[in-house]
Amino acid sequence: MKLLLALILLLGIQNVNCMNNGLARTPPMGWMDWERFRCNVDCGNDPLNCIGEKLFQQIADHMAKDGYKDAGYEYVCIDDCWMSMERDANGKLYGNSTRFPSGIKALADYVHAKGLKLGIYEDYGTHTCGGYPGSLDHLEVDAQTFADWGVDYLKFDGCYASPSKMDKGYPQMTQALNSTGRPIVFSCSWPDYQRAQGMKPNYTLIGENCNLWRNYADIQDSWGSVTGIIDYYAKEHDTLAAAQGPGQWNDPDMLIIGDYGLSFDQSKAQMAMWAVFAAPLMMSNDLRTIKADAKEILLNKEVIAVNQDPLGKWEKRVIQKNKVEVWTKELYNKNYATVFLNRRTDGMPYSFSITLADMGYDTALDHYSLRDVFYHKPLGYYGINDTFTATINPSGVVMVTASSN
Ligand code: GLA
Repeated sequence: MKLLLALILLLGIQNVNCMNNGLARTPPMGWMDWERFRCNVDCGNDPLNCIGEKLFQQIADHMAKDGYKDAGYEYVCIDDCWMSMERDANGKLYGNSTRFPSGIKALADYVHAKGLKLGIYEDYGTHTCGGYPGSLDHLEVDAQTFADWGVDYLKFDGCYASPSKMDKGYPQMTQALNSTGRPIVFSCSWPDYQRAQGMKPNYTLIGENCNLWRNYADIQDSWGSVTGIIDYYAKEHDTLAAAQGPGQWNDPDMLIIGDYGLSFDQSKAQMAMWAVFAAPLMMSNDLRTIKADAKEILLNKEVIAVNQDPLGKWEKRVIQKNKVEVWTKELYNKNYATVFLNRRTDGMPYSFSITLADMGYDTALDHYSLRDVFYHKPLGYYGINDTFTATINPSGVVMVTASSN
């Protein structure tokens, strides 16, 4: 009897922890078309930039040959507007046949042959945000279709759906994906829609069912949009920090580095902040024409290593003073990463001094060696009560790592 009870309990627990798919142990990295290419379906007039198989093939080519894959960027993700407006006679989704003439399975094969993975987009509601068929009442068939195509990642949006039904509905999709037997990273927009309705998302449930989730509004191509997201993450810090860890990540949305809206310093700032947030690093830019300075930021191995740290810890804003914010993330083996973010716009680099103890480092250790991760140079040894001075460009960052070994 006791054994039976233990078995039931165990099964129950396993059922609760249903997104135990072993994926995304570190934040997923890749590329996603939405922020840069939107719902451009005009392949007649704009064949190079429309949402069609050519774009994804070309991006996969660049990811594989230009160093992105080697740096860890893995998923090539199709966002909204890829489908036909109707399901087929069997109720299945299929790619718009003018823009994806070879079909999504062939695109998955193409991407896999480059050593990369394919992501796709659907929506829990009746329609996607762009007005294409949603998955409501078709969860199982859609999950199976994606698995049959060889899809590796699903972004599951929440337009045209009731946020109050998502606590039930998203876990049903988790089950449907699990039932396919194919490992598919599950990205949920569930908490963002609940937040927008004034609801308080249940992050325990979300963490059990999703590998990553959007918390906040869509990123746009501007510094104001980036800082708006940072402000939201600061405000909700404790809730969001508790929700995440290996296999389950908060998603502040795509990287817009290489687009039109950010300066060089602001681009470094987004990369640095997304690194200490342990955020998914999904670039949304044109890798075919990206400039060398943006590419260098995106391929910075030291910053990526902070993002991909195996502990998966969240940063903490340890101080906010004179429009400078200091964010520290604990890394594996009692190492740390700290970002000094300058929100000032008064033109001149600003010097900010702080002790290592106040940076949030473990005071049980008496010294650390610091390193600048954008200049790739050692900054020397500092005692825990020594003062470090960062000179930070306007709307820019200084980012250091600290090693206690
Ligand atoms: C929503 C999402 C975006 C994008 C669009 C597509 O706005 O938040 O990231 O997927 O839908 O329509």
